[in-house]
This record gives sequence, structure tokens and C-alpha cells, in this order.
Amino acid sequence: MNIALITGASSGLGLDFAKQIDNVSEEIDEIWLIARRKDRLISLAENLKHPVKILALNLMDEAEIALLESKLKEEQPNIKFLVNSAGFGILGYFEKSNIKEQLEMIQLNCSVLTQITYLALPFMKEDSRIIQIASSAAFLPQRNFAVYAASKSFVLSFSYGLGAELEKRKIYVTAVCPGPVQTEFFDRAEKNGSVLKIKQFIMAKPEKVVKKALKDSLKRKGKSVYGAPIKYIEIISKLLPYKSLLFFMKFMK
Ligand SMILES: NC(=O)c1ccc[n+]([C@@H]2O[C@H](COP(=O)([O-])OP(=O)(O)OC[C@H]3O[C@@H](n4cnc5c(N)ncnc54)[C@H](OP(=O)(O)O)[C@@H]3O)[C@@H](O)[C@H]2O)c1
Repeated sequence: MNIALITGASSGLGLDFAKQIDNVSEEIDEIWLIARRKDRLISLAENLKHPVKILALNLMDEAEIALLESKLKEEQPNIKFLVNSAGFGILGYFEKSNIKEQLEMIQLNCSVLTQITYLALPFMKEDSRIIQIASSAAFLPQRNFAVYAASKSFVLSFSYGLGAELEKRKIYVTAVCPGPVQTEFFDRAEKNGSVLKIKQFIMAKPEKVVKKALKDSLKRKGKSVYGAPIKYIEIISKLLPYKSLLFFMKFMK
């Protein structure tokens, strides 16, 4: 049985991956949806053409990740697509932040993504895809978003390294690096501070980011960057020293 396994499927990018994989992929027999909000997953499933397995799991809980591991061992699926989209960010100065929340962010964005990838790999064969949701925040350090940006640098670097390791197995890894996207992400992110106004002008629609990500993944690209402004940010981040980047960003509103 060929499956797509999608974390963070109850909203935003993960939800859109579910919809678009459902539309384009004939080689998938079942879509497995993971998030905590079961009601959201049920209503998504009702609108998908493929059969769905709903896994209402809190990925911050080791015991619930173990349930996913048992399910994989029991059903022995062939994972054609793994999409790791569960994640969150919290804006605000590190020193004034809630350290528990900062550490949880590292856990979900980095450790859980790494663990799910590790669990999925034994169930992946040639010509499968791993899509890791990083962020344009991976390109440069950011004051007011320091831990989040660092967590996404981890995702980007991990994806590149893993992609190189998996070349011989013909499993292709794509790190998706969007700028701001219109999702529920900001409900939580802006709890202690708001995004730069400039970010609001370049806010992308999730369906466009996901469409490009799937296209890039099928083209076996290691990275997917949607939109001209974000591509420029990536280029500038490679040209300027990090101190200059941080200096210029100080004046952005
Ligand atoms: N939106 C942006 O501007 C933006 C830009 C760049 C990168 N990203 C990245 O894109 C990814 C998806 O974010 P989004 O924008 O789609 O935000 P979102 O709409 O808030 O979606 C986050 C998803 O993660 C799931 N999740 C959160 N905590 C979880 C937990 N403990 N266990 C299981 N699932 C959990 C949520 O489901 P439940 O709450 O139902 O569990 C939800 O489905 C994240 O990694 C984010 O960092 C977002």
C-alpha cells in the first residue's frame, strides 16, 4: 500500500499538502494525516478523494510517537511522500521569552521532524519523496525570532545532508523555505510581538507555496523557495556578512 504521511495536516501548509497530493497523485492508495485536532482532520478527510487514516497525535509526546511507530510496523506501508509540516514559531526577545516554549519549539521543529523522518525511512523505497518544511528564516539569523530562525537552519542543513545520504537509495529530500504564509502560524507566533510590516506585504497563499514545493520535489530539487522577494532575500543573505544583515534588519518596520 502506497501512502502519503503528512504531519501538521490540520491547518496551513500541511492541510494544503494533503489536498494537493490528493488531487495529483494517482500512485497513492491512502493518505495518513497527523495533528492533534481530530475534528479538523475528520473534516479534511471528508473532502479528500483518497481513503484516509486519521492519526490524532500530539507529537510532543513520546508515547504518541510510539503509536505511529506501531502503526507503521503493523501496516508496513510504502511511504511515497513524507511531509513534515508540524511546527511553530514564537516572536519576541529571547531573554524575555518563556524558556519552556522556546525549548518546545526546538523539540517540535527539529527533534520531532528528525524522529518522524527516522521512523519513516525503513518504509520508503526508490523514487519516494521527503518534504521538510523549513523557512526563509533558515537563510539568516533574526533578532526577535532567534530560536525559530536557528531551528529552521537546522531543518535546511539536515535536509541537504540527508538528501546526499539518500541519493543512492533514490529517495529525494526537499527543504521548503517559504517567507511569510497566510496560515494560523501567526496566531501563536504573534503572542508576544508582531511581525515586521514588510512581511505583511509579501505574505503568500499556502496553496501557491505548496504547489511549487510539490513541483520542486518531483523535479528532485533539494530546496523550494516560492516568490521573487524570498529569492532575493536568499541571495542577499549569501552576499552580505551576517552582522550587516542584522544591522539593516534593525531599521525595518
Ligand atoms: N506560516 C508561515 O509564515 C510559515 C513560514 C515559513 C515556514 N513555516 C513553517 O510551516 C510549517 C507549518 O506551519 P503553518 O504555517 O502551516 O502553521 P499552522 O497553520 O499553525 O500549522 C501548524 C500545524 O502543526 C500542527 N502541530 C502543532 N503542534 C503539534 C503537536 N504538538 N503535535 C502534532 N501536530 C502539531 C498543528 O496541528 P494541531 O494544532 O491540530 O496539532 C498544525 O496542523 C511550520 O513548520 C512552520 O514553521 C510557516
